[in-house]
Amino acid sequence: GIDPNFDANRENVGEENGVAVWGPVDPPEKLGIHGTHVAVDYDICVADGACLENCPVDVFTWVDTPDHPESERKVEPTREDQCIDCMLCVDICPVDAIDVDAS
Ligand code: SF4
Ligand code: F3S
Repeated sequence: GIDPNFDANRENVGEENGVAVWGPVDPPEKLGIHGTHVAVDYDICVADGACLENCPVDVFTWVDTPDHPESERKVEPTREDQCIDCMLCVDICPVDAIDVDAS
């Protein structure tokens, strides 16, 4: 699953769709972690979609990631500032790709 200490263990390598990206990044195979308060490990996400479909405040948006080995699309936490820390997405993701820093 996603490393909950990613912000200490990884480097912020920029921004995509208004969301911070934590490296290493080497597209199309390696896409890093997207988001800070709500963080999605793009290299683990298999595009299950349960997070996006069930988030009560619609934090997530689909983005295309052609040729990534795990899936051809991922969820971007574009509205992470709206997150109410319900933890539903963290609990529901089948591959533990999401970390929400509720502290
Ligand atoms: Fe949405 Fe809840 Fe996940 Fe926050 S913790 S992104 S509100 S499902
Ligand atoms: Fe990906 Fe998990 Fe959501 S696989 S689409 S982060 S439920």
